[in-house]
Amino acid sequence: MDLTTRYLGLRLRTPLVASSSPLTGTLDGLRRLEDAGVAAVVLPSLFEEQLTHESLAVNDALEAGAGVFAEATDYLPELAHYDVGPDAYLDLIRQAKQALAIPVVASLNGTTLGGWVEHARWIEQAGADALELNLYQVAADPTHDAATLEAREIELVETVRAGIEIPLAVKLSPFYTALAHFARRLVVAGAQGLVLFNRFYQPDLDLDSLEVVPHLVLSRSEESRLPLRWIAILRPRVSASLAATSGVHCATDVTKLLLAGADATMLASALLEHGPEILPTIEKELAAWLIEREYESVEQMKGSASQAAVPDPDAFERANYRKTLRSWSSRWR
Ligand SMILES: Cc1cc2nc3c(=O)[nH]c(=O)nc-3n(C[C@H](O)[C@H](O)[C@H](O)COP(=O)(O)O)c2cc1C
Repeated sequence: MDLTTRYLGLRLRTPLVASSSPLTGTLDGLRRLEDAGVAAVVLPSLFEEQLTHESLAVNDALEAGAGVFAEATDYLPELAHYDVGPDAYLDLIRQAKQALAIPVVASLNGTTLGGWVEHARWIEQAGADALELNLYQVAADPTHDAATLEAREIELVETVRAGIEIPLAVKLSPFYTALAHFARRLVVAGAQGLVLFNRFYQPDLDLDSLEVVPHLVLSRSEESRLPLRWIAILRPRVSASLAATSGVHCATDVTKLLLAGADATMLASALLEHGPEILPTIEKELAAWLIEREYESVEQMKGSASQAAVPDPDAFERANYRKTLRSWSSRWR
């Protein structure tokens, strides 16, 4: 069975990619992933804050107990163990490239223009095969409208794109006013791939200390339905590689996402929970499904249930809402 796929112009042995997580942050973890058959790895992000020595504005506001950012309840998990600094990060890229035969994708996390963007070039020089730009932003300032925030992100993508030759993917959140429009703008700005979606972490409150504490809960399979819908919708509308992240835990999730139109399916929670050793099982079950349905390859099945291909395209949009609600009430008749 031919499980190869093309993602960002790279040929991957299978669609199974390890997305940024602590597992991809050490050489040992990376080796384990490759040994288990992962097709590519995305290193943890190098954060704008690490490069500018500025702290997260939202985090600051929350820690100060300001309470005014009631809606800004998403922020990143603690950076502590990620705070490797740019030099160590570039070293990790070099070591990973030396040790592994699979593509190594580096990741930059930031939302504003600034000197730190330079690091994209250094990442390229360190040997990364591609760069994932993670736009993790909480739109907490009521004086900034959607158009302003989006324009800033587009400018950032254009700037990073102009500075490097390697393929660029953008990892984005699902929280845009007009997601399909923004996705297309990202591609026009130079993103060769879109990674759907960033998973936002909700901070928690400690009732004893009344402090905001990070609370990271790993994902579950059900969460893959958000990227499933949007990959199906975007597949016929944007000419870019599409990768699914959030809730990819088993071969069923992978198969559905490929059918919707994903070029790659990325795993983090499942790998942290069960170890890289689950990868061969997922790969075997994906191959078995393809054989049973008489597909010859992953490339052949990719997108065959995207919005352009299914008999009821509305099902991916508003109609799905009505049907879902009705499907519940019908149980009681
Ligand atoms: C502990 C942990 C650390 C993560 N670190 C990063 C990171 O540095 N950069 C990034 O883009 N995503 C990061 N992620 C997000 C994952 O790459 C992934 O997109 C997200 O967890 C959704 O996938 P999942 O459902 O398979 O976990 C992290 C996730 C976890 C659980």
